[in-house]
Amino acid sequence: MKTAGLLCLHSLSFDHALRIAMNAPLPPGAEVIGLFPTPFMRVPQALDARLVDGLVQHFSASTDRENNSSDNLSHTAMLKPSDSPLLVDAARAITPRLVEFGTLLFGEPLGWSLKEMWVNVMDPGGRQAMHNHANSFISGVVYLTPTHPQSRTVFMKSPGGHDFAFKNDHAGMTPSEYNADKWISPQPEPGDLVLFPSYLMHAVPPNLGERRITMAFNAIPTRLDSWGYAISFSG
Ligand SMILES: [Fe+2]
Repeated sequence: MKTAGLLCLHSLSFDHALRIAMNAPLPPGAEVIGLFPTPFMRVPQALDARLVDGLVQHFSASTDRENNSSDNLSHTAMLKPSDSPLLVDAARAITPRLVEFGTLLFGEPLGWSLKEMWVNVMDPGGRQAMHNHANSFISGVVYLTPTHPQSRTVFMKSPGGHDFAFKNDHAGMTPSEYNADKWISPQPEPGDLVLFPSYLMHAVPPNLGERRITMAFNAIPTRLDSWGYAISFSG
């Protein structure tokens, strides 16, 4: 009897796992609720071709900061929209999207400002190590040139690293949003914009394609209010 009971339990568990793996419908009345999801906004063609070309021409010649983990990646200095009419135009296109994305993060339309912007020039073989962005709430990337499919921006869960880790990670398992620890963002086209919470870890795998140019930025809200305990930010 004991053995049969164990077999039965094992069998139910296997059926349940198989149903999830095969994306089969759940039993009537059952549901899976994705708790506390992380927003990621993708806006195709957020910047028009004229502006994208102008940014590439103007800023790809001014990347004078070496990346500290890749010889084939360089950056401009931190820029502000007021540094160039091109950046003013870019900020005008991006800011309404910040308000929309910020409403997801904080539950109301707030005032948002682009605190700093910079251009990344990644030559073949270049890569960007895993990082996130400090002193910021919304970060984003505008893709200015075609991106090789192997060099799409990858987002990952915070790596932790302070305790033993247990994983079920092999060819026979089916990754999903509930068990994956990294996510490869969709193939971008020049002019496409993505927005994500600044705490989210991300990286760019080695560039197997042509020179890859992106513009990144950080944004802050003017003010956050928690039942009268308010804090204001200025960039
Ligand atoms: Fe970044």
